[in-house]
Amino acid sequence: MDNDILKVLYSQDEINEACQRLGKQIQTAYQDKFPVVIGVLKGATFFMSDIVRATDTYMQIDFIDVSSYHGGTQSSGDVELVTDITTDVSGRDVVIVEDIVDTGQTLKFLLDMLKGRGAKSIKVCSLLDKPAGRTVDAHADYIGFEVPNEFVVGYGLDYDEKYRNLPYIGVLKPEIYTNN
Ligand code: IMP
Repeated sequence: MDNDILKVLYSQDEINEACQRLGKQIQTAYQDKFPVVIGVLKGATFFMSDIVRATDTYMQIDFIDVSSYHGGTQSSGDVELVTDITTDVSGRDVVIVEDIVDTGQTLKFLLDMLKGRGAKSIKVCSLLDKPAGRTVDAHADYIGFEVPNEFVVGYGLDYDEKYRNLPYIGVLKPEIYTNN
């Protein structure tokens, strides 16, 4: 897999430091509360598991699976709910844990849905933010790193379901996706 990577953007150590920093911010914000922390599958899997363990406060965890990519490098803009949470979020403080906010469509879909279900408050923690990709008004409250407008993989992020298990985050060589 290493050979398919143009450059490493964030090493394992840098990701770990970001998780500790964000975990402490969430801990401070929710120390007297019992939030529902919702990880967005599958990209946020590893980030979710690291972030909740960096947060020493009571919390409930759940997962949701939504899809918008259908295997390419451009979001289709058409967000679908694949697998729902099992928690009733009505009256609850919610923290959404995302891998990356690109166009913002996935996040907007989730925010609208959870607001519609009566969540008391909703904050978003995203490992990566790609502001240059934004097409709708949606933003994260807690951000690990701001990334340039390039397609990145690793630490949960995929291209065509590959590279999620890379321990770092890197930019994929463009020939990998232009040849497919
Ligand atoms: P958005 O709806 O365009 O904000 O995209 C959200 C989802 O698209 C993320 O949760 C990722 O799964 C995926 N995504 C966006 N940009 C990238 C990228 O650079 N690499 C891998 N996946 C990405």
